[in-house]
Amino acid sequence: MGELDFIYKRHSIRRFKDIEIPDEDINEIIKAATYAPSGNNIQNWHFVVVKNKKIIKEMVKIVEDKNKELSENIPDEDMKQRFRRYVKYHTVFRNAPVVILIFCGPYDITGLDFIKANNTTMEELIDFQKPDPAIQNIGAAMENLQLAATAKGYGACWMTGPSYARKELEKLINLDKEGYFLAAMTPLGVPEDGDIKSPPRKPLEEVMTVIE
Ligand SMILES: Cc1cc2nc3c(=O)[nH]c(=O)nc-3n(C[C@H](O)[C@H](O)[C@H](O)COP(=O)(O)O)c2cc1C
Repeated sequence: MGELDFIYKRHSIRRFKDIEIPDEDINEIIKAATYAPSGNNIQNWHFVVVKNKKIIKEMVKIVEDKNKELSENIPDEDMKQRFRRYVKYHTVFRNAPVVILIFCGPYDITGLDFIKANNTTMEELIDFQKPDPAIQNIGAAMENLQLAATAKGYGACWMTGPSYARKELEKLINLDKEGYFLAAMTPLGVPEDGDIKSPPRKPLEEVMTVIE
């Protein structure tokens, strides 16, 4: 057992057994997510845990309806085929016993006020906000969630694919929190049996630059 095995054991899981997850496990996994770091410790996240199969089905239908709508407007048949292959991955939560949606609340980048006070152009402002710490906080929480789920023997899959149906999903969930939007979601469940693998990674030399 290597000390980083907890990282290498995580894989995106897209098929699940029809087994319920005890509330204690869900709570512990969400708690682990909230122990992620966040800028200024703002904790601008909110987790919606959907255990209701009917609501999960409705979420699938919302994404599928949106897929249909978008597909109808694609003029090119080849592009349509590619779209269909691609959107299969946006409903992989369909047979999970639990789906967790992470909402992102507002968090302005530190120093934004000072930058604005300097007569900056809109272009400069957009560029300044590229590192988007509000979303980075959500990413940190989601990764903690994925690792915690794996450590407890569950499978999960970070998903932003259904984002084009965000407004419709938000309407269904009806979260009463000002300024929060649906940033990502993940199914959670016991992985279906079978070979679980991740796609290969780029070699280190390609993704790493060392300055000595
Ligand atoms: C921001 C983000 C969005 C993703 N969205 C989806 C998605 O919508 N559907 C899906 O099946 N997988 C999604 N994934 C999972 C990736 O496809 C997966 O992480 C990648 O292929 C590497 O595989 P691994 O997670 O098994 O290591 C997403 C991952 C991330 C980080």
